[in-house]
Amino acid sequence: MKKLHLLFIAVLFSFSFLSAQTEQSIQLKDGWKFKVGDNLDYAKPGYDDSQWKGIQVDKIWEQQGYDPLDGYAWYRIKVFIPSSLKNNSFLKDSLKIFLGKINNFDQSFINGNIFGINGKNVTANTIIDTSFLYAPTILWDYNRRYTLSVDDPRILWDKENVIAVRVFDQGGQGGIYTGNAAISMVHIGEYLSLDYGQVPFLFKNKTASKSFTIKNTSDKLTINGKFTIKAENKLNKKIIYEKTEVLKLEPKSSKYFSFSLVNQDQSSYVNYIFEFAHNKEQTILKEETPYILTSAPSQKPKINGAKVYGQRPNKPFLYTIAATGVKPMMFDAVNLPKGLSIDEKTGIITGKVSDKAEYNVTLVAKNKFGSAKSKLRIEIGDKLALTPPMGWNSWNVWGLTVDQEKVLASAKVYKEKGLMNHGWTFINIDDGWEIVGNSTDPKRDADGNILCNSKFPNMKALGDSLHALGLKFGIYSSPGPLTCGGYTATYQHELQDAKSFASWGIDYLKYDWCSYDNIAKDTSRAERIKPYTIMQDALQKIDRDIVYSLCQYGMSKVWEWGGSVGGNLWRTTGDINDTWQSLSDIGFSQIENAKYAKPGNWNDPDMLVVGWVGWGPSLHPTKLTPDEQYIHISMWSLLSAPLLIGCDLTRLDDFTLNLLTNDDVLAIDQDPLGKQATPKIIKDNIQVWVKDLEDGNKAIGIFNLGSETKKYSLDFSEIGIKANSKVRDLWRQKNLGKFKEKFETLVPSHGVVLIKLFE
Ligand code: GLA
Repeated sequence: MKKLHLLFIAVLFSFSFLSAQTEQSIQLKDGWKFKVGDNLDYAKPGYDDSQWKGIQVDKIWEQQGYDPLDGYAWYRIKVFIPSSLKNNSFLKDSLKIFLGKINNFDQSFINGNIFGINGKNVTANTIIDTSFLYAPTILWDYNRRYTLSVDDPRILWDKENVIAVRVFDQGGQGGIYTGNAAISMVHIGEYLSLDYGQVPFLFKNKTASKSFTIKNTSDKLTINGKFTIKAENKLNKKIIYEKTEVLKLEPKSSKYFSFSLVNQDQSSYVNYIFEFAHNKEQTILKEETPYILTSAPSQKPKINGAKVYGQRPNKPFLYTIAATGVKPMMFDAVNLPKGLSIDEKTGIITGKVSDKAEYNVTLVAKNKFGSAKSKLRIEIGDKLALTPPMGWNSWNVWGLTVDQEKVLASAKVYKEKGLMNHGWTFINIDDGWEIVGNSTDPKRDADGNILCNSKFPNMKALGDSLHALGLKFGIYSSPGPLTCGGYTATYQHELQDAKSFASWGIDYLKYDWCSYDNIAKDTSRAERIKPYTIMQDALQKIDRDIVYSLCQYGMSKVWEWGGSVGGNLWRTTGDINDTWQSLSDIGFSQIENAKYAKPGNWNDPDMLVVGWVGWGPSLHPTKLTPDEQYIHISMWSLLSAPLLIGCDLTRLDDFTLNLLTNDDVLAIDQDPLGKQATPKIIKDNIQVWVKDLEDGNKAIGIFNLGSETKKYSLDFSEIGIKANSKVRDLWRQKNLGKFKEKFETLVPSHGVVLIKLFE
């Protein structure tokens, strides 16, 4: 009889066919005790913890009454480990203590002996010091899976064992939080690993293909079984590929596989199934395939990008025409205001305009295949960011490990992969360019000017090279003494820093609250507004336009006052991460703030998490499925959200590039009316969000938040749309015809159908 034990939906890292539940396991869900503070005696088995409070390990400690709490706290649990656990197991060599994810760092003890630090197994005589605190922050997202040989004296078989975990939270959320802690024997499947999640699908001649290796990581065990790759279309469930091979994997050996699927216009599920020879047990890893909907740009010129652009009088002007089509191309701009000129070869418009007015310019792009024209309204006045900023930011990919080379590499890809041709403009450095706050090095020069660290040897030169490419340059700081990453920030140097930024050619400033918590007198709205007003005044005094991005996670309903302190955009939430939970929590809750979005003032639901992300230094492909990524870009566009790519552009795969370069979709984000979509229907798991467009038409996202594909019929009268509307599928860039009273469509689970209704 075949046994089917577990199903993993997984798209990242390298996976083992691991199984916590396959064989007997002892769940460590309940029974934990908790103590704030630090004392190494808490590791001792005999320590009296009877006065400690109980705690759950399925949620962070902030959600259990410890808010705020950063720094040390301890967890303890008592657990009986029976020898039947090993006796009943197929493999009898190692015990696994699985704690789940811990935010941020841990030293884990059993019966007073250390066995794990930050996810690594350690011996009992390891020195216990504080060096475990100097590890990458991203460890918050890392499962602690520790193993001990069955004959390790640290384990007490058939007795009570005490597990104690010393946790240190670096800031923000803290604790053991995934709720799946358990003790079991190491399963044979855990020695099989597959790196398919690290290899992107390649798209060529209507096929999507991929190659990967399956590896036996054990140095003793031979693994026998059958390996099957089976793919089925996500919507109609048709099997589109199936192949099985008998495998004998010697210790430490691996085998290479490749397969190719006919490219569907929907995701397919690929099942990687291993059936073990000894007991016919099957384990399955599952992946959703990416699918490309964006058509390749034509050879002829087509002008994309913002159709309205604002700048203040007498400030350096920079607008680059974004155009697809074969290069070389010649550009022109007819009716440019006095003071501006265009470089005909690059399409970069520069200069200064002194008179406040609206100027209607015609942009022209020509190549050997034809020519294109497009209107651009230049508004010389008080407002910047008349459409939501589009760019790249270093944080979601490099975190604090950003450096000048990484920034320049992104700019290079903007040009080489043509992102610029679709309106991607900013290249923004986030935290990590300043001098570390607790270093002994000077943080500012003798005159108080802020210094850059050695990773950014010449900010002005960096700015110049970005501007020469027609790109804009962004930077990050905080109103308190330190940034969120603990680097030097702007407190009491606001005007001086604004001047430095201007002298480096900065076009965009993200100003991030963090350590201002220690400066603010209280949590009143007035105190929250104060530091942003000080910086606004400083930015008004410099001889350069700097787009002002407020980052304070939505506190005191920033959308109600962000515009009044000169904010061009403001974060409405905490930090995003690349999970469905985070994406859907943020994306579908942007409702109350909708009416505050308008040209020059945007709600910012945080940066994009598509492509290879990781908050540095190690990266992984986004954990979002392809359909979830379609939701991400569709929703952010409907929300008129700033679009800031947060991935390693040098590893941009075909799918992600197409996701970021669909001009129909980007035009929804950049629509000059600047109206944010609102939900018009929320029924079961379907949500219909509608955005009014400048041309009187509407963009509509039909989202399926459920786990099954759904047939949905959008009744026009329900959302106030006239009968006989024409429908355009925006991702497929295809007109679907005229629809009488309703539009019926299949919406994939965790997926979207994005349309435009037009007359
Ligand atoms: C905060 C912000 C992030 C990023 C980091 C940098 O967490 O919300 O977007 O800027 O700080 O330290």
